[in-house]
Amino acid sequence: MDQGSRIRSGITVSQCGKPGRERGVKLITIEDIRKNREIRTLLTITGAQMRALGYTEHSFRHVGLVADTAGNILEQLGFPEREVELARIAGYLHDIGNAVNRSGHAHIGAVLAYQILTGMGMDYDEAAQIMMAIGNHDEQTGTPVSSIAAALILADKSDVHRSRVTNTDLATFDIHDRVNYAVEKSEISVDSEKKTCDLILDIDTKICPVMDYFEIFLVRMTMNRRAAAFLGLQFQLFINDTKLI
Ligand SMILES: [Fe+2]
Ligand SMILES: [Fe+2]
Repeated sequence: MDQGSRIRSGITVSQCGKPGRERGVKLITIEDIRKNREIRTLLTITGAQMRALGYTEHSFRHVGLVADTAGNILEQLGFPEREVELARIAGYLHDIGNAVNRSGHAHIGAVLAYQILTGMGMDYDEAAQIMMAIGNHDEQTGTPVSSIAAALILADKSDVHRSRVTNTDLATFDIHDRVNYAVEKSEISVDSEKKTCDLILDIDTKICPVMDYFEIFLVRMTMNRRAAAFLGLQFQLFINDTKLI
């Protein structure tokens, strides 16, 4: 069968934009995403590019953690199971734009994710929700525009930890390395009854004074506050058992 007759016969119905059964829509899970070879390749390239640029770790450890945390936040708040799963998928894919370029990675990654997900057979609406969340996760241009976006922002901006520092030469640490390296514990939790979202950090102040943390993370904490508010929560920051926000 030549290309023309295939299209005329309607076999390639996805090209006609028909939703539902004809397109072969599949319920894509976080496990499908974790196993997907194309996604694994992009995350590997992301890791390589971020290492080359001297950034902290942005690959499998980071996205796996963000996926779990974003899903847990919505689960704790009683969101529907499928929305929880979409938040996990958004978390896992949110940094794949770094495989292209750090600049604009949220927007590039959002479009990449949409194309991969619809290519896997995900419903257009679900893929678009994930695209929108990923496109809004970066503090320079993002806004918590949906529950999935808000959960993704909280999960991503809260991943500050010693294990993210890839530079092994302490003498050449920049402020980002120092702040991340100083964080020995980082936990985010939501309380659906008290309507709070707590970020709890233990920082070794011999490595980095708390002020350095604020210098780097003030914009991120502001974004966290907005994301928590979108979910009807008050954001609270605790560093070394002291409430700072
Ligand atoms: Fe990012
Ligand atoms: Fe990230």
